[in-house]
Amino acid sequence: MLTGETELARQNGEPINVFDLPQLYTKPSSLALLSALVSLKPKPISWEENDADHDQPREDKNAIASYLTKIVSSPLTWLTEDEQVEVWEQASIRLSERSGRNGMPAQTRTFSIPSTPPTSLAIHEPTMTNDNIGFKTWGTALILAQKVLPHIPTHLPHLFPSSLAAPSVLELGAGTGLLGLAAAALWGTEVVMTDLPAIVPNLARNMVANEGAVGEHGGSAKTDVLDWSCMTPGPEYDIVIAADPLYEPEHPICLAAAIDERLGREEGARAVVGFPLRDETTRGFGEVLKRELGGRGFEIS
Ligand SMILES: C[S@@+](CC[C@H](N)C(=O)[O-])C[C@H]1O[C@@H](n2cnc3c(N)ncnc32)[C@H](O)[C@@H]1O
Repeated sequence: MLTGETELARQNGEPINVFDLPQLYTKPSSLALLSALVSLKPKPISWEENDADHDQPREDKNAIASYLTKIVSSPLTWLTEDEQVEVWEQASIRLSERSGRNGMPAQTRTFSIPSTPPTSLAIHEPTMTNDNIGFKTWGTALILAQKVLPHIPTHLPHLFPSSLAAPSVLELGAGTGLLGLAAAALWGTEVVMTDLPAIVPNLARNMVANEGAVGEHGGSAKTDVLDWSCMTPGPEYDIVIAADPLYEPEHPICLAAAIDERLGREEGARAVVGFPLRDETTRGFGEVLKRELGGRGFEIS
């Protein structure tokens, strides 16, 4: 149970006050501590406009971190051994959730994609380790999935003739697979989602988890390893998609080479690349990509 004050604060959307949480000097029961720890669980960010996330009570971050640290470092002598372990474990998780994306535990988020019927994709994101940027779902993937992909069949009708097979689609740098899975569902086609070797197992996990949601629209997905920095000849596709692929100086040149290698040469094939203009450097990467693609004979629009 939450203490009355904390319960009230949450209901009123007020910040959680650390003094309303069970204090260790009162030797609270494990139940009281565990329910307080549950109340401190942050909701994953979903980016959904109607998400109640934004109404979450704010908190005094330093005070809460210090409260959690006290629990983790307390011997909790009045609890049984099993209770101690459980309380320490939950307090450590709450602390790691407050340590930025790199310290956050794995999570599964649900994203809705506008389609008839609506598509709900469950995307698993492992704890970020080393440089595994692809373990996180980036905002550009969601914007492309929700705002751009649904309009592509209207803008490129030659790629979606009702009498012929749906277009073949390749995703480069798919990460957790949100964009590719959304494309498979929205376009009712097969999407080959690719990334670096360390990223593909989680990508495959998300592909399997969403087989039903994608299949309901006549779509399907596959995964494969594809490193843009060492391209070899391979199959060509009608559409190549990529979200947020430019964050190292070599990326624009490698990505242009990958698009050149995999995008079909027949009239009408298209690459759809979305990247955020984070700063001057990212803008520069975008300009290099356009220049590289232009140099390879592609028209940029
Ligand atoms: C910023 S993340 C974007 C992931 C995903 N598209 C999204 O928007 O959520 C960039 C992705 O590019 C992948 N990547 C980076 N360099 C790559 C390379 N040389 N070949 C293939 N993928 C690469 C990363 O592994 C990562 O998944």
